[in-house]
Amino acid sequence: MADDDNTYPQAGKRRMTLPPPVAMAANDGALEREMLAQMDPDTVFMMGDMPKLEKMPQKPTLLDFFRYRFGKVTYNHLLQSAKLALDGGHDEKIVMACLLHDISNGCLIRTDHGYWSAQLVRPYVSEEVAWAIEKHQALRFLPDESVGYGYPEAYTKYFGEDYVPPPHIQREMREACEHRWYMTCRIVTMNDVYSFQDDVAIEPELFEDIIGRNFKQPEEGLGFDGSPTAHMWRTMIWPNNFL
Ligand SMILES: [Fe+2]
Ligand SMILES: [Fe+2]
Repeated sequence: MADDDNTYPQAGKRRMTLPPPVAMAANDGALEREMLAQMDPDTVFMMGDMPKLEKMPQKPTLLDFFRYRFGKVTYNHLLQSAKLALDGGHDEKIVMACLLHDISNGCLIRTDHGYWSAQLVRPYVSEEVAWAIEKHQALRFLPDESVGYGYPEAYTKYFGEDYVPPPHIQREMREACEHRWYMTCRIVTMNDVYSFQDDVAIEPELFEDIIGRNFKQPEEGLGFDGSPTAHMWRTMIWPNNFL
């Protein structure tokens, strides 16, 4: 059905959105062919601001992505993890890493989320914060009794009792344990709370000052600063663009 909101691109036309290929397991091309067959002067593929999504400011900040794009589960999870680290009196770099550690789950991609999350923020945070974010994916699987970190009960439920991480993740665990920033990442995993309580409201503004000191927010806005990951932020602004 065409929407008639003239403030959006492609006004008056029916906009078709094809899910990203990575989200279509066993894609035999049927949906793509079906949509291609529907194209006509009034039916186009989605490009630009999408009426179903909130419009982002022209120069989006990190917190704008929290407010306007992230799914509620990731939104709450990141804020709760960062708040726990803050209340625990941890260094700002830890709070920052907790606030960003699963950022790719917000509205980009889940698989290999530690790597995607780290890559997304690497131009804007210290190398130590980016490293901790990347490695938390592997270190979450590895207990460390010396600090009281056990294998997450949630993982037993999510993946089954017999799940064993693949060899490349096991290699990452071993290497991360030897690294000088191991404890930074370990503390992130210890604050990686799986409470997912929707009723605990933490305002993202609580972290404004820590972000100001630990995240190099580009003047042009995230997505428009020409950084090596700007396209990833734009993908979150316009997640359903056909191209
Ligand atoms: Fe994670
Ligand atoms: Fe997490």
